[in-house]
Amino acid sequence: MSVEKHIAVAIDGPAASGKSTVAKIVAKRLGLIMVNTGAMYRAVAWATIRDGVDVDDASAVVEMLDNVVFSCGVEDGLSTILVDGFYPGEELRQNGVNQRVSGVAAIPEVRALLVDKQREYLKLGSVVMEGRDIGSVVFPNTPFKVYIDASEEVRLARRSAEGLNDAVAKRDAEDSKRKISPLKVADGAVVIDSSEMGIEEVVDAVMQVLRDKGAPAEIFG
Ligand code: DC
Repeated sequence: MSVEKHIAVAIDGPAASGKSTVAKIVAKRLGLIMVNTGAMYRAVAWATIRDGVDVDDASAVVEMLDNVVFSCGVEDGLSTILVDGFYPGEELRQNGVNQRVSGVAAIPEVRALLVDKQREYLKLGSVVMEGRDIGSVVFPNTPFKVYIDASEEVRLARRSAEGLNDAVAKRDAEDSKRKISPLKVADGAVVIDSSEMGIEEVVDAVMQVLRDKGAPAEIFG
């Protein structure tokens, strides 16, 4: 497929709605690249911890961006992010990162840097990209947009089943109320409430959206 024909599947939704798991399965099934944009914001938050930068001081965070190299790539069909050549791995999901990530994600310069990197992925191939603003800001013209929701109760239970302590409601409130690229249902996105659904059902629903919106037959193999 030529670069112009690469497609972007945008999957947005609140924290712990299951969108990463669903995006991974859809991407694998269709042979597309899965891009986890939350990991990119988490990598910036992780770097602020490493460098002792106060996230409430936006100018200090912006200054840090000039001195740190964030490199994005793909491994086994999944996006990767290195910070000065180092992969933070599971540290990206630690509590300190959870607490800081909405703060760094509200800084326009951080978003500008990462949105550019996110759009670059489309040069490599078709993508399933998950985040908060993929359908609204990163790829507003893609016809393939879903918003995966789930009740707060279900989302908290999913996080604690993973052994993680994550104040999802607090993060969602911060992500939804920020001025720049807030978490919202993008124009034209199909909302899937996954509260009562199993992963496979959600995957099937996303596949159906792709068919309904006219995804090219060749991506279905
Ligand atoms: O998907 P996640 O929970 O790993 O995302 C971590 C944080 O990153 C989330 O609370 C808000 C921010 N984020 C964002 O602002 N825009 C995105 N496209 C993805 C994540």
